[in-house]
Amino acid sequence: EDHLLSNMPLRGRKVLITAGPTYEAIDPVRFIGNHSSGKMGFEVAKAAANLGAQVVLIAGPTQQQINHNLVSVIPVVSAAQMYQAAHNHFKDCHIAILAAAVADYKPKQVATQKIKKKSENLTLELEKTQDILASLGAIKEQQFLVGFALETTNALKHAKEKLKAKNLNLIVLNSLQDKGAGFSTDTNKVTLIDAHEHETSFSLKLKSEVAADIMNVIIEQYHA
Ligand code: CTP
Ligand code: CA
Repeated sequence: EDHLLSNMPLRGRKVLITAGPTYEAIDPVRFIGNHSSGKMGFEVAKAAANLGAQVVLIAGPTQQQINHNLVSVIPVVSAAQMYQAAHNHFKDCHIAILAAAVADYKPKQVATQKIKKKSENLTLELEKTQDILASLGAIKEQQFLVGFALETTNALKHAKEKLKAKNLNLIVLNSLQDKGAGFSTDTNKVTLIDAHEHETSFSLKLKSEVAADIMNVIIEQYHA
């Protein structure tokens, strides 16, 4: 029994995860999106479920699939839909891990008909989407809140600023400088920064292994 418990440290815990890109509609046939594969978030979902957690995985458009009896997937398309789904599940969750590559801007107006090719130039007016992670940080109670940061310059400084500004317990810094780390690869290299700004750097490894590293640090800190 002790042995089983130690292998299932998240049994009875609800873990909320966001993954993948969001698509922001321009007109009925076009959107603004990004190259996120969703792989990192899906690997984290698998790792959490394998530790016994009940996982709610809110996924933007992705080719990733998951089949685990402890994971329920909520498919969404836009940042606004992801925001709504995340808030629906945040209150009673114990740990929230926001790995999605949410669009920062969306078209201010969505054309109801396909935009026809006319003038030489076309300007789209964009407005900010809501920051899902920051909005959860602002209402956080007992939840352990984890964000990701994708940085290309002054990575540590920017990641620490996000940790503070969004009221996080932990941030996972993705180093895009490293070859083999990032969007469409199977590998990643991360540095974890906790609320005391203590840093833990990991080597380049498979995203499944990165997910296990992330869950290990979360469990250590969550139980502490
Ligand atoms: N995030 C979010 N909602 C948004 C934008 C970002 O929940 N509208 C979350 C991401 O899922 C990630 C974290 O915020 O966990 C940081 O995302 P990132 O793009 O690195 O930072 P931003 O705060 O969007 O700032 P910038 O893109 O300018 O670096
Ligand atoms: Ca962003």
